[in-house]
Amino acid sequence: MNAALQPRAVPLDRLGRPLQDLRLSVIEACNFRCGYCMPADRVPEDYGLDAAARLSFDEIETLVRGFARLGMQKLRITGGEPLLRKDLPALIARLATIPGIEDLALTTNGTLLARHARALRAAGLRRITVSLDALDPALFRELSGGRGRVEDVLEGVAAAEAAGFERMKFNCVVQRGVNEDQAPVLLERFRGTGHIVRFIEFMDVGTCNGWDRARVVPSAELRDRIHARWPLRALEANYRGEVATRYAFADGAGEVGFVSSVSDPFCGDCHRARVSADGQLFTCLFAADGTPLRPLLAQGETAFAERLGELWRGRADRYSELRGRAGAPRKHVEMFLIGG
Ligand code: GTP
Ligand code: 5AD
Ligand code: SF4
Ligand code: SF4
Repeated sequence: MNAALQPRAVPLDRLGRPLQDLRLSVIEACNFRCGYCMPADRVPEDYGLDAAARLSFDEIETLVRGFARLGMQKLRITGGEPLLRKDLPALIARLATIPGIEDLALTTNGTLLARHARALRAAGLRRITVSLDALDPALFRELSGGRGRVEDVLEGVAAAEAAGFERMKFNCVVQRGVNEDQAPVLLERFRGTGHIVRFIEFMDVGTCNGWDRARVVPSAELRDRIHARWPLRALEANYRGEVATRYAFADGAGEVGFVSSVSDPFCGDCHRARVSADGQLFTCLFAADGTPLRPLLAQGETAFAERLGELWRGRADRYSELRGRAGAPRKHVEMFLIGG
């Protein structure tokens, strides 16, 4: 990093963790209603469509510049479904040039990707992660709350490949008795393609997904099953605090990842901040409340960065490590507000 851009002091939170990643939601709305995130019976059809409640592109740019000053290097755009945000490529183009940002990624359900992949690439987006819980068309549709078609997602993936996104990630939230059988199907499809499938333990995020520990498939169990079919070899993390644990296929067909927030919490190295589309800062995926940043953004990048540093220094979240213990917070922000 250019010395002139170095923040005066990179803030550490109360557990000694730096602020390295920002996960920024650009819209609360989603065209899916996945039961573990935004169940149709709890979230109205027209939810999240109030454009005035969202940070403007100008506000977002100030916000991201402020985060970058404090040492944030990885930016992930999330939603809801971020591709529902009008003119997203124009925003990406503005964010891609901000000094200090070394990684710019997007998490999407993929349904609108065919339409936008080329423009996103041209705007400077480097990485895409697609949520994909099943390849079976009927099951996929059911898991999306009756909204999505897996064919559209696969068409989006093909368009993204053609646009130059050669190494994508696929996130599959695994639920026992629901889509476990899709794990080998997904691997069969994506092994050897250069893309990476990651299996995510079903988490108790939000307040409305009816989480039940019995529906969690511990990663170790799934890994052993996969290993029995395609032998695996453990890999080192790409960087400290990487969320997924990585394994290589011994036959050279690429890698697979596991995100084990329930069976093996990783709060110790958690360096992620989250901001909702209306500009609230959440310092944990399971935080109860956010801090409104919009008023601070109005004061400009420098004043904003200073206040943000103070907020980060006060952070002590480690929910996954406290889960189930007496005193662990029970109220949680909804997943669709902060995009995971
Ligand atoms: P890479 O930059 O490619 O390493 O992506 P990532 O793994 O950081 O991000 P992604 O959005 O793909 O996250 C994968 C899954 O892990 C999602 O279901 C997230 O909700 C979950 N996840 C990401 N960060 C955290 C975290 O800090 N805590 C918990 N409990 N889960 C997380
Ligand atoms: N448990 C685990 N992962 C979840 N996601 C959304 N809700 C949950 C949950 N309850 C995942 C999505 C997406 C990522 C951003 O978060 O499937 O891949
Ligand atoms: Fe939408 Fe993603 Fe939530 Fe599913 S998990 S409802 S696709 S935001
Ligand atoms: Fe970070 Fe909270 Fe997830 Fe722990 S539970 S890894 S502190 S976001």
